[in-house]
Amino acid sequence: MSDDLLKKVISHAKEYGFVFPSSEIYDGLSAAYDYGQLGAELKNNIKHYWWTAMVRMHENIVGIDASIFMHPTTWKASGHVDAFNDPLIDNKDSKKRYRADVLIEDHIEKIEAKNRKDVEKAAKRFGEAFNEAEFRSTNDRVLKRQEEMDRINEAFKTAMEADDLAAVKALIEELGIADPETGSRNWTDVRQFNLMFKTELGAVSGDSGIIYLRPETAQGIFVNYLNVQKSGRMKLPFGIAQIGKAFRNEIIARQFIFRMREFEQMEMQFFVKPGTQGEWYEYWKAERLKWHKALGLGENMHRYHDHVKLAHYADAACDIEFNFPMGFKELEGIHSRTDFDLRQHEEYSGRKLRYFDPETQESYIPYVVETSIGLDRMFLATLSAAYQEETLEDGSQRTVLRIPAALAPVKAAVLPLLKKDGLPEKAREVLNLLQLNHNVQYDEKDAIGRRYRRQDAIGTPLCITIDHDTLNDEAVTVRDRDAMTQERVAIADLAAVVEKKVGLATLFA
Ligand code: GAP
Repeated sequence: MSDDLLKKVISHAKEYGFVFPSSEIYDGLSAAYDYGQLGAELKNNIKHYWWTAMVRMHENIVGIDASIFMHPTTWKASGHVDAFNDPLIDNKDSKKRYRADVLIEDHIEKIEAKNRKDVEKAAKRFGEAFNEAEFRSTNDRVLKRQEEMDRINEAFKTAMEADDLAAVKALIEELGIADPETGSRNWTDVRQFNLMFKTELGAVSGDSGIIYLRPETAQGIFVNYLNVQKSGRMKLPFGIAQIGKAFRNEIIARQFIFRMREFEQMEMQFFVKPGTQGEWYEYWKAERLKWHKALGLGENMHRYHDHVKLAHYADAACDIEFNFPMGFKELEGIHSRTDFDLRQHEEYSGRKLRYFDPETQESYIPYVVETSIGLDRMFLATLSAAYQEETLEDGSQRTVLRIPAALAPVKAAVLPLLKKDGLPEKAREVLNLLQLNHNVQYDEKDAIGRRYRRQDAIGTPLCITIDHDTLNDEAVTVRDRDAMTQERVAIADLAAVVEKKVGLATLFA
């Protein structure tokens, strides 16, 4: 995995209509992207897989679609107005703005890169006998650098915990960190920057009219807890799921669709009896990893990262990290959020947000275990893991997207071998047979080999060729994207063959 792969994925995504820079004719808008004709399909398929797994396959989970705008007190109660901040610093010469924590992390990464280089060199020198752990714990230079990284990490953590932004600036100066673009070390003080986008409500002027674009979808679930519980006659434990846009004014948004200012989340809040949150946390941790692994995006592509330092409202939290082209990074969070959110909303709204337990005849605020995945990150994970350049047996090259068949934007391509002899008409009959249930493309241009390559490049799992024999035997040739094998299938069996290959059932098996 490398930056090179990320560049290739970005350019492939644009060339084939997955992702375009937003408003490109005006030179784009930083960190905003548009999903193209195939991107929108892939995104929808990911949503469908998530919604099916979470809502349809769980009797006790229901889905909602809350408004993006919420009463401003929501964000006071949730803590976002006061604490949803990043430490930022400006360079006085370049006028560029950076996240102080990212400047420090990048500095640490440069030191670690030197260590990795030494490890690689030593590995080459010692060959098979090389033991990386032993080398790292005995080599003087590597050890010194590790000590330096630990010291910086500790100093930064201490400063942030004490909300001592002057100490953060002092650390940046002490480390000689320069503006990555201009090399200038002329920094302003560090200050906290709230990540919520503000806007104004129609007819109300002044501060009382300020509302926010939601920075997470979760609060739309919390404020509807009682509505859903009562109207759906839900009994604990139960979940509320939601897919929707979220907005964060990220100071640096980079790495393509990994960190954006407008993105989509798929979140589920699972309301449980206090005291049982530990077992539900473990349940969802395992269940969510299973969901990811069922896609078969590759061995060792996922790992857990357990949070050591917990947010004040959480009693357990972890990320599921994915091996993106930039390395392992957060894809999904699983958080045991206690009763923090509902309790805060009770306090700020003055309304009771409780559950009357018919078994114990008690009334209490439920605890919550949350699963929260970024749809755009899931999109990037799928696309980057799928992208492959291959040399075939005959020496020719192909670029193929090995997207899991159930997520592929186009499920099958229907290809008449020739543009005459009644083959296009027969092909359209086949198309009609499939298109109600699947996104199917018709293509009659160019030689069949080139048409296969085009479909490989967009990840179409099946190519269905209609030839002269089809007119007599009512059968077609079905070519598999991955194995590139071909089999003859009766048209009467085609719908079942396609469904077996691309249906969601394959993932749940
Ligand atoms: N309700 C909990 C919550 O929002 P989070 O860890 O801040 O938790 C959850 O966000 C997920 O949303 C992340 O794991 C990530 O996949 C996605 N996400 C967060 N910020 C993002 C951004 N700026 N761009 C794209 N995805 C983002």
